[in-house]
Amino acid sequence: MADEIPWERLFEEAARVRARAHVPYSRFPVGAAILYADGAVVAGCNVENATYGLTVCAERNAFAAGVAQGHTQPVAVAIVVDTPQPCPPCGMCRQVMAEFGGQELPVRSRTPQGGEARYTLGGLLPHAFTKDFF
Ligand code: THU
Repeated sequence: MADEIPWERLFEEAARVRARAHVPYSRFPVGAAILYADGAVVAGCNVENATYGLTVCAERNAFAAGVAQGHTQPVAVAIVVDTPQPCPPCGMCRQVMAEFGGQELPVRSRTPQGGEARYTLGGLLPHAFTKDFF
């Protein structure tokens, strides 16, 4: 299944949307692209705010855009950040991923220099709190 995921296309989308990040404070642009079960690809970038605390990460913006466009079954997430080592998603974004994706959801992060890290959501957020506990 993982071999069928069009990772190159996802990373292209993540890199493209990363160029639109609104990051006047951190100068740390992030791009994320999600492949959904219906074949849709939805991307998001981080959007910062003068109050700092209202900043929303690329991954969460991508998931919010996915919901708005009618997609709720992610099958892969690609992230692009220009860091020395590939950067994993923050804790808040992991929790948002767990709202929609299962433990096996593959998450990969690349740098423009060619570094790559491969995760599963379960590895990033074991014992996630989900609606299954309601
Ligand atoms: N950021 C993301 O977009 N995704 C992450 O998973 C980590 C952090 C953003 C938030 C902020 O705009 C900048 O990176 C620095 O923290």
